[in-house]
Amino acid sequence: MNGKRILLIVGGGIAAYKSCELVRLIRKAGGQVTCVLTEGGSHFVTAMTLGALSENRVYTSLWDLKDEVEMGHIQLSRAADLVVVCPATADLMAKMAAGIADDLATTLLLATDKPVLAAPAMNVRMWQHAATRRNVAQLRTDGVTVLEPDEGAMACGEFGPGRLPEPEAILGAIRNALGSSAGRLAGKHVIVTAGPTQEPIDPVRVIANRSSGKQGFAIAEALAGLGAEVTLVAGPVGLPTPRGVRRVDVETAREMDRAVQGALPADAAVLVAAVADWGVEAAASKLKKADGPPQLAWSANPDILLELAHSRHRPKLLVGFAAETDDVVEAARAKRERKGCDWIVANDVSGDVMGGEENSIHLVTGDGIESWERASKQEVARRLAERIADALA
Ligand code: CTP
Repeated sequence: MNGKRILLIVGGGIAAYKSCELVRLIRKAGGQVTCVLTEGGSHFVTAMTLGALSENRVYTSLWDLKDEVEMGHIQLSRAADLVVVCPATADLMAKMAAGIADDLATTLLLATDKPVLAAPAMNVRMWQHAATRRNVAQLRTDGVTVLEPDEGAMACGEFGPGRLPEPEAILGAIRNALGSSAGRLAGKHVIVTAGPTQEPIDPVRVIANRSSGKQGFAIAEALAGLGAEVTLVAGPVGLPTPRGVRRVDVETAREMDRAVQGALPADAAVLVAAVADWGVEAAASKLKKADGPPQLAWSANPDILLELAHSRHRPKLLVGFAAETDDVVEAARAKRERKGCDWIVANDVSGDVMGGEENSIHLVTGDGIESWERASKQEVARRLAERIADALA
């Protein structure tokens, strides 16, 4: 992170303990951190912990006279390259959205002229409450990057969206936010496919697969973060559209093929979608159980990657994915040759990768194979986006 300066505002929630790990990761990545601890945050982590990890003074109060003599709050809010709010509580976001400045953290947030990234964490019902939805929408309109919280079991015993994203994923978002000013991919158009496709059998039934779309969406977000114009062709998934990305929703492989063709020309295409290899002739009316198991007439779907590799409009850089369960690297190498793409990103999907938060991949290029250590899907996306920027430079 090349000495980039992060002003980290730690809000009051149980997830505040993860901000300590975030400080450690930013430091490890070569960034500098100055922490501001809210009154609420101080009930969960101490200024001593944050100070030791950041190797910097921790600020807590607006009424520290010495700081105010030096116009501390203005200085603090301007000296950073990026302001990060982690965890961003419902209360903190409500104040940010309303422009309330009643403590050091909120005053800094109102006084800053730097990009702001918020990593929310709260109870699922608070996250889904109409007031929070309104505040998040307002913050996004105001240019704040609000990350989507993770889903899962929460400290309060409930289940759903509201968990703080893992510190590694937040670090990836920080890198994206810092990178966007660099605009390494400005003026480049990249097509990304993501998610599964669904092949209808009759008006109510489909053949689908387990792809969650998370990796593809993270790649689209990371590319947009580097300034690319991104067209995201998405199969049926319930994920929010990443900031700054043009999204085209499709259902079947044929629709995805048409959407990709329609989005050309592009400088690069990253085909992450798990496209159904075959479709069936869908019945016009619902098949009835009494008629017994249906005889499905299968036919091959277009291979979007293969077509693109041999198209007149072949993007300069064509990246395919290979979800494999056996001989991952060997299968990926063969797939790269067969499909005619430049790179294959191979992942072993025999474990919990599909639908999970992490991925461990092998990047197969014309120069050989790189095996990346297991990381969050956001971090994999960030690294891949950087590599794509290198290749298109
Ligand atoms: N792909 C595509 N269109 C298809 C099928 C796959 O664009 N109809 C793309 C995927 O998005 C991914 C890559 O091709 O980038 C992976 O292809 P895969 O289906 O795994 O390869 P196959 O050639 O079908 O090999 P196999 O099923 O034997 O593993």
